[in-house]
Amino acid sequence: MDRRAREIYAEKKEALEKGDAEVTKQVGRGKDILSILMRANSSADVNDRLPEEEVIAQMSVFLAAAQDTTSNAIARVLHILAQKPDYQERLRNELLESRAGDDLAYDDLNRLPLLDSIIRETLRLYPPASILLRVATQDTVLPLSEPIRTVDGQEMTEVPIPKGSEFLVGFLGCNASRSVWGEDSLEWRPKRWMPSLPTSVTEARIPGVYPNLTTFAAGKRSCIGFKFAEMEMKAMLSMLISHFVFQLSDKPIVWNVAAILYPTVGWESLRPELPLSVGLYK
Ligand code: HEM
Repeated sequence: MDRRAREIYAEKKEALEKGDAEVTKQVGRGKDILSILMRANSSADVNDRLPEEEVIAQMSVFLAAAQDTTSNAIARVLHILAQKPDYQERLRNELLESRAGDDLAYDDLNRLPLLDSIIRETLRLYPPASILLRVATQDTVLPLSEPIRTVDGQEMTEVPIPKGSEFLVGFLGCNASRSVWGEDSLEWRPKRWMPSLPTSVTEARIPGVYPNLTTFAAGKRSCIGFKFAEMEMKAMLSMLISHFVFQLSDKPIVWNVAAILYPTVGWESLRPELPLSVGLYK
């Protein structure tokens, strides 16, 4: 990651030094987040400027936290839509009717109900980062939403957590909880978001920077890019689905558990890929 970040940094630095014409040639035309970061840094007051090493370190964070998460989330939506052609067609109709593939303005794109529901439902059931690692900085007690029975038969309503404990927070515990989302909590059903969620969800006080989901974490260390990710997914999917039809290929796709869940062909491979059969729409 560090090696690649350094390469990107060097490429962009050279392009930025050569001026606008060179930047325009690049993919993203200098509007990508890393070019913006570098440009902002070079125009900042000398005292506020990040050292080069830190900009490169921030790039690694963005590659892992921003690109890997969002690209795998988009891949997941495409994989699901390839398996559910009826949903794909309904989404395409919504996108074509609103001309979403022709550079629709942010607010208008944000308002499309099926696109929004498909993205939320995918992020609910398939959070790209499915586990959070945390360390308790002080002794605390974790209250449980429902009592649990321990192996020796006792009922527990809370869990004492001593300072220094390391624990994993699994997002699906909340995102797919039956008592919150209902009997079909493990089903991918975008309609549950339309027109609004049941009160069992809205009143559950789900901790999350993104409404009703834990996918982008909660609190001080929650995701700073969730709106960016949402809009990136919407912009990308509106273009792709307006122009192309996605179908399953003959390759078996497996989603692998990792820091960010990713697809491979078959169980043995570690190479991230999602071959689908893609055709031009009309
Ligand atoms: C679907 C896409 C995304 C998902 C599911 C996601 C999820 C998360 C989660 C769960 C965390 C907390 C990680 C932890 O504390 O261990 C996080 C942190 C972070 N995310 Fe995202 N993220 C996404 C996209 C983005 C994008 C597009 C950006 C930037 C443009 C971004 C930037 C960050 C950064 C910088 C952090 C670290 C914040 C900190 O530790 O203070 N993420 N993200």
